Amino acid sequence: ELKDNTLIVVFGASGDLAKKKTFPALFGLYRDGYLPEGVHIVGYARTKMDEVEFHKRATQYIKNPNNDETITAKIEEFKKLSTYVSGGYEDDESFQNLEKHLKEIEATYQAPEKHRLFYLALPPSVFIPVATHVKKNNYATSGVNRIIVEKPFGRDFDSSRELLSALKSSWSEDETFRIDHYLGKEMVKNILVLRFANIALGAAWDKNSISNVQITFKEPFGTEGRGGYFDEFGIIRDIMQNHLMQVLSVLTMERPVSFAAEDIRDEKVKVLRAISPVEAKDTLLGQYVGANGKPGYLDDDTVPHNSVCPTFAATTLHINNPRWEGVPFILKAGKGTWPLNEAKVEVRIQFKDVTQGIFKDISRDELVLRIQPSEAVYLKLNAKTPGLATKVLPTEMDLTYKRRFADIKIPEAYESLILDALKGDHSNFVRDDELDVAWKIFTPILHWIEGKNGPRPKPVTYPYGSRGPKELEAFIHKYGYRRTEQGYSWPVTNVA
Ligand code: BG6
Repeated sequence: ELKDNTLIVVFGASGDLAKKKTFPALFGLYRDGYLPEGVHIVGYARTKMDEVEFHKRATQYIKNPNNDETITAKIEEFKKLSTYVSGGYEDDESFQNLEKHLKEIEATYQAPEKHRLFYLALPPSVFIPVATHVKKNNYATSGVNRIIVEKPFGRDFDSSRELLSALKSSWSEDETFRIDHYLGKEMVKNILVLRFANIALGAAWDKNSISNVQITFKEPFGTEGRGGYFDEFGIIRDIMQNHLMQVLSVLTMERPVSFAAEDIRDEKVKVLRAISPVEAKDTLLGQYVGANGKPGYLDDDTVPHNSVCPTFAATTLHINNPRWEGVPFILKAGKGTWPLNEAKVEVRIQFKDVTQGIFKDISRDELVLRIQPSEAVYLKLNAKTPGLATKVLPTEMDLTYKRRFADIKIPEAYESLILDALKGDHSNFVRDDELDVAWKIFTPILHWIEGKNGPRPKPVTYPYGSRGPKELEAFIHKYGYRRTEQGYSWPVTNVA
């Protein structure tokens, strides 16, 4: 349940993440009445600015396309409950100064219990100093304390372990909320329900029915503006080891004993532990080059001119358990990929061929979970073409949210996660051991890419705005994917 009299402190308040995600999400919760009674938000960062400037930045990404008056009014109210403090990240004095401000606000709370939620929207170099200083100087003595942290959680198994244990020396697992914002997405949250609330789907969810699974992330823009950060990490750390692996684990885990956070996370860890480390032979790396009027990755001034950092990766994982033995899970993630102007994240489960004999060359069934944009679940299946002749036609059963749930507003991932953290629900946050196993799976390949044990592999190229490297088609084919008969396309255009 929500705790009244909670202070929310956002560190890194002038940064991109805070501006684009954290504050708009806090506003969304406020607008819809989900923030606790007496809540107050404090932004904190190094930047010196007055409250007017802070409010301008904090509300700059809040959407109000039609200048709706009630929203404008809400934004003004939201500004009133948020204040700003500037200070350093490494000295006690700054945190004591912050403490003074927090105490002043809390002096207006009637109840003896005063709670604090600390949100670290910070670059990794200051995670630990801030977490430690906050514990020392700003830890509430008469209420619940919680800390939200964001990736990157290290760069490989060892550095992630170090970070975990440094955080643990000040914050307990129960107080820690590690965000992977994919776990807050509506369709990702739906996977558990689709799988375990439906006999029909549950019955087909294994190696007997499924041939291969693809989890795809495509972004229509490159790394412009954050090339410096990106080059240090690469697409595998940025997207695959975290976001796509989270999707994979809910997709493949066994049924949890209950919806309780630890029951869910136990099952996720269990299935991850059955995955062997990614191998170079199962991996395709790419880097985009300038095309369609857009610059290539290496044209970015913040990127080293000879960088071999992958901006695209496809890799195939195998789960060594009885349910999934022999089923390839193909993860694909690419920046600057097709179609231009459309990001796409989806899960595509391809079923096996029907028994041969009465049909020839018919398409395979596919279940597609479209995570974004425009959430949808559709099952591609074969039906008889209406008419006097018996002809098989690939078609679909389609649950497109915009059509079926036209009046329901789908919350932003960050809204859903911040609310969970305020309630103390860990179900959709990453547990320490989960992080550990995910890193185990990817560390060898990351070290190989970094040239730790030989020359660095050179990614193949693909044009900005294309579907990805031309080698991709053969790659997915190698793991058993068969394209649906020519001419079929999901009628996505029917939905506005
Ligand atoms: C972030 C990555 O974690 O996820 C970004 O660092 C990426 O590179 C983003 O753009 C994608 O998130 P979403 O919610 O837009 O799919």
